[in-house]
Amino acid sequence: MKNLSKVLVLSSFSVFALSTSCYYDNYEDMYQYLPDESCDTPLSSFSADIQPWIDAQCVSCHGDVSPQAGLDLTTHANVAAKAASILDRISRPEGDGLLMPQGGSPLDQCKIDGFSVWIDLGTPNN
Ligand code: HEC
Repeated sequence: MKNLSKVLVLSSFSVFALSTSCYYDNYEDMYQYLPDESCDTPLSSFSADIQPWIDAQCVSCHGDVSPQAGLDLTTHANVAAKAASILDRISRPEGDGLLMPQGGSPLDQCKIDGFSVWIDLGTPNN
């Protein structure tokens, strides 16, 4: 009888441990506020998700040789240092004169959300 209650205590503990660990590992529960349903995973890896759109849509003007506004976006350190200002410029509504990329098509919401999550993570060089 004593052993049986030990087994019961142990098994109910492991059920509890399993259910809580599943909850905290669930990405969608952590990032529920993402508005775009099609954006399952926030695009928040610097090298895999962020640098490619910066290279394609920003570096033509913000390169390392005489960059517009003195803003060189070719390195992780420079992007991290200007992250708040970049988020502000890429999040502006269409038609706003300060929207970046200047003269290009606005970034899709998934990339903007990913950039915002990357800032929340502490702008890692990931
Ligand atoms: C066609 C050229 C061009 C492209 C492409 C471009 N920019 Fe710009 N950017 C400018 C110019 C010119 C300015 C200065 C005028 C202004 O502040 O709007 C500027 C200013 C900025 C500023 C403000 C800098 C400061 O210190 O105040 C940020 C941030 C910025 N751009 C980010 C970006 C990002 C991010 C992209 C890519 C998504 C991008 N830009 C693409 C031309 C460009």
